Amino acid sequence: MNKENILEVKDLHVDIHMTEGLLTAVRGVNFEMKRGETLGLVGESGCGKSLTCKAILGINDRKCVPSGQILFDSEGLGKVDLLSLDQKGKEIRSIRGKEISMIFQEPMVAFSPMYTIGNQINEATKLHITKDKQKSKEISMDVMRKVGIANVEKRYNQYPHEFSGGMLQRALIAMALVCNPKMLIADEPTTALDVTIQAQILELINEIKEKRHLSVIFITHNLGVVANMADRIAVMYAGKIVEYGKSEEIFYEPAHPYTWALLSSMPDLETSERLESIPGTPPNMIYPPKGDAFAPRNVYALDIDFELEPPLFEITPTHSAATWLLHPNAPKVEMPKVIKARIERMRKERG
Ligand SMILES: Nc1ncnc2c1ncn2[C@@H]1O[C@H](COP(=O)(O)OP(=O)(O)O)[C@@H](O)[C@H]1O
Ligand SMILES: [Mg+2]
Repeated sequence: MNKENILEVKDLHVDIHMTEGLLTAVRGVNFEMKRGETLGLVGESGCGKSLTCKAILGINDRKCVPSGQILFDSEGLGKVDLLSLDQKGKEIRSIRGKEISMIFQEPMVAFSPMYTIGNQINEATKLHITKDKQKSKEISMDVMRKVGIANVEKRYNQYPHEFSGGMLQRALIAMALVCNPKMLIADEPTTALDVTIQAQILELINEIKEKRHLSVIFITHNLGVVANMADRIAVMYAGKIVEYGKSEEIFYEPAHPYTWALLSSMPDLETSERLESIPGTPPNMIYPPKGDAFAPRNVYALDIDFELEPPLFEITPTHSAATWLLHPNAPKVEMPKVIKARIERMRKERG
């Protein structure tokens, strides 16, 4: 494992045993993260983003079987392959919630309606930080304040239904942060929120990340959401990473037609103008298509795309994409003008 890295995911597969047959929903995912770095994991719904992160945390659904390697530099255990640990054992439990924590898309599901918010945040504090009741409560309240929940003395004793969506998401972030994790996985944490609250939550996560030197995996189906926060971006399609690079490389030099499509379907944050959605739907991977899974939706597909899956072609040492268009013998294809114009605009806006 590289010394600077906190996480290395190698050839991760997730098999799901369905009654109709075997669904390989994650098909050989590779990425690495440096300490303090934010990775944006981006792709349409169903491409395997959540399964990838659940495999990291060891919270796989019953039918889902991950394989490959997930190397993590743990404080308590040193360098460890998370997949080699007993998924119900003490070791993974000492990492889950304590060293790596996760914010889910739906805070309503993450919290139980039966207990007060304070009690639920406190459960994590008591489990990982201190058994002292008073101290634990103070720590929980303090982190609630830090994520911008006002009037904590009252809020602490309220139930989830008494919180607005935005406040509940803040409470969920508090619960994820209370144990001082080194790594945070945020799985579409703002999708259910309106645009203003969404911006506030993104800013909050960004702030916390800077302050605590957190490593963050930020999952979203909207490239625009990670534009200002990710150092690196992995674009996923049908269980694979199809383009991977530094944020600037993905936004300014995108090479994969799928990334072009994502860029063009990205709502403009300022004007909310939406260019076009991506025509067609992702394939059902119980019956994987021959060749490149994106080929049927790819207007730039070559004959070979329907025969053979493309390998990842290296564009720079930090940027690669899995498309036959990058083969030296492929015909030269320019990215569509609308996207070029959009990239130019983004460059100008960002200076
Ligand atoms: N427990 C499960 N049982 C059956 N299929 C599942 C299960 N979990 C995920 N899947 C399927 O695996 C694929 C990837 O799921 P997921 O990782 O949740 O996608 P994403 O988070 O990118 O939207 C989807 O097609 C989804 O329907
Ligand atoms: Mg998901």
